[in-house]
Amino acid sequence: MDFEALLSRDARVMRSSLIRQLTGLVGQPDIISFAAGSPNAQMFPHAKFRQILEHLIAREGGQMFQYSVTKGNPRLINAVGERDRVTKGIAVSSKESLLVSGSQQGLDFVARVLLDPGDAVFVETPSYIGATAAFENFRSRVCAVECDQEGMDLDHLASRVAACRTEGRPCKLIYVIPNFQNPAGSVWSQDRRRELYDFASREGLLIFEDDAYGELYFDGMDPRLLRPIKALDQTGHVIYMSTFSKILAPGLRVAWIHGPEEVTQRIEYCKETGDLCTSTVSQRIILEFLERGWMREQGESVRSFYTAKAQAMQRSLESHFGEFARWRAARGGLFQWLSLPEGVDALEVFRASLAEDKVAFIPGAPFFAEGGGANTLRLSFSNVKDENIEIGLSRLSRRIRRSLP
Ligand SMILES: Cc1ncc(COP(=O)(O)O)c(C=O)c1O
Repeated sequence: MDFEALLSRDARVMRSSLIRQLTGLVGQPDIISFAAGSPNAQMFPHAKFRQILEHLIAREGGQMFQYSVTKGNPRLINAVGERDRVTKGIAVSSKESLLVSGSQQGLDFVARVLLDPGDAVFVETPSYIGATAAFENFRSRVCAVECDQEGMDLDHLASRVAACRTEGRPCKLIYVIPNFQNPAGSVWSQDRRRELYDFASREGLLIFEDDAYGELYFDGMDPRLLRPIKALDQTGHVIYMSTFSKILAPGLRVAWIHGPEEVTQRIEYCKETGDLCTSTVSQRIILEFLERGWMREQGESVRSFYTAKAQAMQRSLESHFGEFARWRAARGGLFQWLSLPEGVDALEVFRASLAEDKVAFIPGAPFFAEGGGANTLRLSFSNVKDENIEIGLSRLSRRIRRSLP
């Protein structure tokens, strides 16, 4: 059977990401892995989930396992909107919001709703590979825009938009992760957020703001500096997305989108054929968690857990990497980004380090949508014991020293 001939044009371009393939290699227990980007399961409040489930089942019986409306539980939508109003300054009505089954589904649906083959999407360099892959699945043209310490370089963005328009390419979306970016861990300045918003409004482009990590700020970080671009939005130019995956638990698969109603309505249509609705059980658990006022304590313990992990990583980086690598200490999120001297190939280091030193990480190049970044890498501290952070990084630094030009 010639299955290739049967595949749709979209399916023919779909690929498994290199990162998924690499993280698949590193699951063995004797490996110290800075590769996996997942949150630490120790932080998932399973005892509270159990309490909530027992309570809900006793009260509602089988009914809580029923299908529900596609857009999501209206009480949860209101609760999420209210939380984002109070903590992030975002003003939206429930008509503009919906729940999705993880922000990864949001990426897929936004791409499906907005992108035709050949349309241009602008992303940071580097950017989240799960997003660029979602855009590429719809055969859009992903344009990598340079970044500096404050965020996306808007002159470069403007020149890339102009060049795409000259080619006759429709320009649609600017996808950004302004808070603790995956993979670079960077935080945009508030000025740059405002400038991007002004640019997008002027040019008739939509900003797709992915705020997966905004609530994972470390001690000493002022959360007012993390105010989303969506908080500026008066004109419906921003689609905002966030998730319960990092702050609560990814297995719940619940995330939310606030956007212009014209877009969220279409996403709802996509969701009708995509999965009918997000897990109603997860939605009920989260709603109860919020209504019991448990989120504040959960946020605090998650933040202090990752603060300590990131600090352990900083100490080891300073003692082993200071002479040859460059980095800015992560101030939140799950990742530390590192640049090695030009000429060092992090993929080669990865192969040797995994085989001979039993230390894994993610080489940075796959995060660069249009190439480059061979000398960069991403380290996740979330799932590594403190003593292994030190052992792993000391081994890795020895390995890299051998590759220095
Ligand atoms: C920037 C970013 N967006 C979205 C996701 C997907 O998260 P989820 O689908 O669990 O909400 C991730 C996961 O790592 C991420 O890093």
